[in-house]
Amino acid sequence: MSQPVTDQRVVAAFDHHSSDIAADPYPAYQQLREQCPVAWSEHHGGFWVLSSYADVFAATEDDDTFRSAPSIALPPPQYGIRNLPIDTDAPETQQLRKVLLGAYSPAAAKRMEPEVRELATSLLDAVAGSGRIDFVQDYSTPLPARVILGILGFPAADWEFFTHRVHTITHGITRDPEGTTQAALELAGAIWTQMEDRRTRGYGDDQLSMIMQARVDGELLSDQDVVSFAMLILFGGLDTTTGSLANTLVLLERDPSLRDRLVRHPEDIPKAIEEFLRYWSPVQGLGRTVSQDTVVGSQCLRAGERALLLWASANRDPAEFPEPDRVDIDRSPNRHLAFGVGLHRCLGSNLGRLMFRVMLEEVLARIPDYRLDPDPEQYRYEDAANVYALTHLPATFTPRARA
Ligand code: HEM
Repeated sequence: MSQPVTDQRVVAAFDHHSSDIAADPYPAYQQLREQCPVAWSEHHGGFWVLSSYADVFAATEDDDTFRSAPSIALPPPQYGIRNLPIDTDAPETQQLRKVLLGAYSPAAAKRMEPEVRELATSLLDAVAGSGRIDFVQDYSTPLPARVILGILGFPAADWEFFTHRVHTITHGITRDPEGTTQAALELAGAIWTQMEDRRTRGYGDDQLSMIMQARVDGELLSDQDVVSFAMLILFGGLDTTTGSLANTLVLLERDPSLRDRLVRHPEDIPKAIEEFLRYWSPVQGLGRTVSQDTVVGSQCLRAGERALLLWASANRDPAEFPEPDRVDIDRSPNRHLAFGVGLHRCLGSNLGRLMFRVMLEEVLARIPDYRLDPDPEQYRYEDAANVYALTHLPATFTPRARA
């Protein structure tokens, strides 16, 4: 029997930016799903927390009620730049996505595979003789950074400048607002320099050139919108892919028989990465703003209120995934929400999957006996609200001559 609709809120002591949640968010998600799947949190100005698969899916699909403008960040950053297209609503979202849809198609990702693989092998070759690697610093950070800077047409050699600023913003929004603003200004400045370069030397076939020449309703984008579009490509692609690989190497350290299976059967890696994305979703949840009074479950949500859609919790909901806390690479169906769903579904999912898969394939082919240093969880970011990732992942392996 359905519950009567209520305006009374169940208040949950839930702060997605807290270090407790960052250390292990999953017990809190389970409690929310079981006790109050539509809960109210008093943190960050107050917001609804949606944690069940059905509610998160339905709210994300109802993009007219659950809007992405003015910001999907919860709380919004102090620097006040909106990110395109993620902070927009229909029809602007579709118009902006169209600019890069072809560049992120499955075929475009496939064409990039040789380049991504070459980069992966060269990064692993660089440490092969030493028998030591920090998987995050030496491998899963530089690879996506260099690939994405390359497609934007930025100097790949500057990857440390960009990743440092992206990390400061992604993990510092509530802890270090001044540092976050400074990092955003520096990123904007670097993108601006690239725009100037194209204005003086001409456009190329890179994505920044595509964004600068795009017309929406017959008009070029403003300079500020070009900057914020390019910035989102950096936010979208760097830390998410880094986190996916590092989280997976921790899982495989804990489960030697699964590691052994993937070493012997690399053809299982594509379906395994879907399960890894479900199990430890890199993007845990993002915000929306309620545009009109609505009801979720039996709970009234009021126009103007904010809501957090927890994809990572939805991905552990037993109503959708039997034995959700077990890693099962043969799980079928596996309709995880790690890339979101609906209007704003990840634009870079094909490229993200490609980089994640190739990085994992090359580790398992070249250093299958890696042993992580003790307690990898000590390297979790203290704020995992935006991306569940690690700062370091040191390991040893049997040294070998370069390939
Ligand atoms: C494993 C890797 C990745 C994960 C888990 C991930 C996750 C997500 C999620 C959950 C969203 C939905 C946001 C929303 O509904 O508000 C999203 C959007 C987006 N992602 Fe990804 N992402 C990944 C990789 C990438 C890559 C490699 C790129 C680009 C190079 C990228 C670019 C974007 C962009 C531009 C959007 C905004 C789309 C829009 O608003 O229409 N992502 N991503």
